[in-house]
Amino acid sequence: MAHIPRLEIKDLTRSFGGRVVVDHVSLSVEVGQVTCLLGPSGCGKSTTLRMIAGVEMQDSGEIWVDGRLVCDTVTRVPPEGRSIGLMFQDFALFPHLSVADNVAFGLKGPKARKRARVCELLERVDLLRFIDSFPHELSGGEQQRVALARALAPRPKIMLMDEPFSGLDNRLRDGIRDETLSILKEEGTAVLLVTHEPEEAMRMADEIALMRAGHIVQQGAPYNVFNAPVDKEAAAFFSDINVIRGTVRGALTETAFGQFLAPGVPDGTEVEIVIRPQHVRIDFDRNGRGPNPTSVDGTPARAVVERSRFIGKESLVEFRLDYDGTAMSATVPSVFLPKPGTPLWLMIRRDRCFVFPAKR
Ligand SMILES: Nc1ncnc2c1ncn2[C@@H]1O[C@H](COP(=O)(O)OP(=O)(O)O)[C@@H](O)[C@H]1O
Ligand SMILES: [Mg+2]
Repeated sequence: MAHIPRLEIKDLTRSFGGRVVVDHVSLSVEVGQVTCLLGPSGCGKSTTLRMIAGVEMQDSGEIWVDGRLVCDTVTRVPPEGRSIGLMFQDFALFPHLSVADNVAFGLKGPKARKRARVCELLERVDLLRFIDSFPHELSGGEQQRVALARALAPRPKIMLMDEPFSGLDNRLRDGIRDETLSILKEEGTAVLLVTHEPEEAMRMADEIALMRAGHIVQQGAPYNVFNAPVDKEAAAFFSDINVIRGTVRGALTETAFGQFLAPGVPDGTEVEIVIRPQHVRIDFDRNGRGPNPTSVDGTPARAVVERSRFIGKESLVEFRLDYDGTAMSATVPSVFLPKPGTPLWLMIRRDRCFVFPAKR
């Protein structure tokens, strides 16, 4: 039998005023998995989520839950019939209802059964002692957990979460993210989480769908999306990047760091070699000789320090290459603050470089 995902969307498309904001987005989410829709503000993440929830109608495309067609342009199951839980940034608890009544809000059935489910969930989010409190008596993080309990109470098959942590202050956020994740995993819900923060996506997701201007441009496990970006922009979304430019001659590009392979790229094509600052190694000048080339790091290139800054757990050193004046930066764990004008040598790990044809 063919595998059936918990949630599957096919070619979901939506325009506003003639502008396509979600363009043939296809995606599936598995039971017990967290999939992150990651992308910059305005790329169409919330619109995608709203269509899945049923509060926005797509122009075309299909939404399937457990192999059942929930919405296309003919069929349309209303939001409450989709077994979908929602959590948004302004998760707005009902201020006049107690914590218990907030969590019970979406539950049906006999009172005793509802009460049991409420207690079970409040126990799980570690807030049972607040069962008779009101939202204003709780901290932001506690309110967040009540909202999570409320969304999970009816045992939704799918949880849709739209930037649910962005309203929380930084110190709280990591802890609440981890807690939320373990609760979602315990419940076995399939989760589609929207965020514009790569770190949040890497921390939470089993699978990342990277979105840009209405399209999903890359999809995969966090490790793969980070380490095998499809293009320069995908690489740049996760961290600062260095870009070294070159022109292809005979499937090779000559750079300050020696020759790079550009297989299948026609002669005369401009290419961009992308490397993250944490993968640039620094070595000493040794009277202008520098380190010897190695098979991993390739040819070293001489550079002069422009600026050094300590940024918390690491140092950021900016350079200019002797070869052609290209600006590059390297991050170094701990404190390393060479003075401007200091000559040093840079090495870039070949297996951490991405070679892309330059876009015009
Ligand atoms: N109801 C609407 N009417 C008109 N334009 C909208 C509407 N909803 C969203 N948009 C536009 O669609 C684009 C994508 O919005 P959205 O899905 O909210 O992006 P994201 O969540 O990725 O920040 C934005 O340019 C936004 O202004
Ligand atoms: Mg949004």
